[in-house]
Amino acid sequence: MVSYKELGLVNTREMFAKAVKGGYAIPAFNFNTMEQMQAIVQAAVETKSPVIMQVSKGARKYANPTILRYMAQGAVEYAKELGCEKPEIVLHLDHGDSFETCKSCIDSGFSSVMIDGSSLPYEENIAVTKKVVEYAHQFDVTVEAELGVLAGVEDEVSAAESHYTKPEEVIDFSTRTGCDSLAISIGTSHGAYKFKPEQCTRDPETGLLIPPPLAFDVLEAVEKKLPGFPIVLHGSSSVPQEYVKIINTHGGKLPDAVGIPEEQLRKAAKSAVCKINIDSDSRLAMTAAIRLHFAEHPEHFDPRQYLTPAREEMKKLYIHKIVNVLGSDGKLG
Ligand code: G3H
Ligand code: 13P
Ligand code: ZN
Repeated sequence: MVSYKELGLVNTREMFAKAVKGGYAIPAFNFNTMEQMQAIVQAAVETKSPVIMQVSKGARKYANPTILRYMAQGAVEYAKELGCEKPEIVLHLDHGDSFETCKSCIDSGFSSVMIDGSSLPYEENIAVTKKVVEYAHQFDVTVEAELGVLAGVEDEVSAAESHYTKPEEVIDFSTRTGCDSLAISIGTSHGAYKFKPEQCTRDPETGLLIPPPLAFDVLEAVEKKLPGFPIVLHGSSSVPQEYVKIINTHGGKLPDAVGIPEEQLRKAAKSAVCKINIDSDSRLAMTAAIRLHFAEHPEHFDPRQYLTPAREEMKKLYIHKIVNVLGSDGKLG
């Protein structure tokens, strides 16, 4: 059993309370690789932002759970080396699928876990969430739960089966489970194809898809029911079209990839939404930088040659999100 406190990590409780009050959101960036971890830490240190580094089941499978945990420990030390005296870094399990997965993360040093029971019947979601909360709180680990179903990677759930969070359920759910934050469904979804072309309109000049707006009425109704309660938005990549264009003009094929417009995320960050999850945009930044690098330097084969610009591009993206979208810059301490 390793406590996250020994690793220099923090849980989300205080940072969410400050973010809700201050009208900004904490970035929750997924990581699978060392380069992503380094870029996240560099961006957080340079902008003086608290940050959530999150690990999915897929990341655990790809990188190995022990390695990721040591990487998070390394992230704290690295932030200090970069000049940040007291970094605020959360190691969070993204989309925990069972009590056992959550327990194994808590026992190995995670400071926050998500139990995603959103595809279960309501009472089963409550039961598993409550069980995780009871275990996690013994170790001062915070718990994110989810109500409502997103389309996309949440998975084996097709867009047709997604449904918005029902505001009339949130008081009962949060009271009975004791969860610390709640992910809601208001029209975001995972991945780089958040909307089907037929759900969008098309800009007549650029030909780019314009997605439908998020359901801010649902968010407002949830906020009214649970004033000041930390709300989380998953599926919040904006799928920057400049990356899609670089990828598509350098051998890639991402037709009609579309995300959540950043002004809508800015609006959400000013509300009770205090954690915004971004993964796909970092994947796009990395892929665009690597494709561009190989187009310009076909003779290169040392991974450091193409991973250096990839890491730089991800760092640029993270800084942009922190400063221009979430507003968490300067909020350390
Ligand atoms: O919620 C989905 C995240 O983007 C993680 O994706 O399961 O492919 O690592 P992944
Ligand atoms: P994106 O696919 O929009 O980046 O969402 C990531 C996410 O919600 C991770 O839980
Ligand atoms: Zn998610």
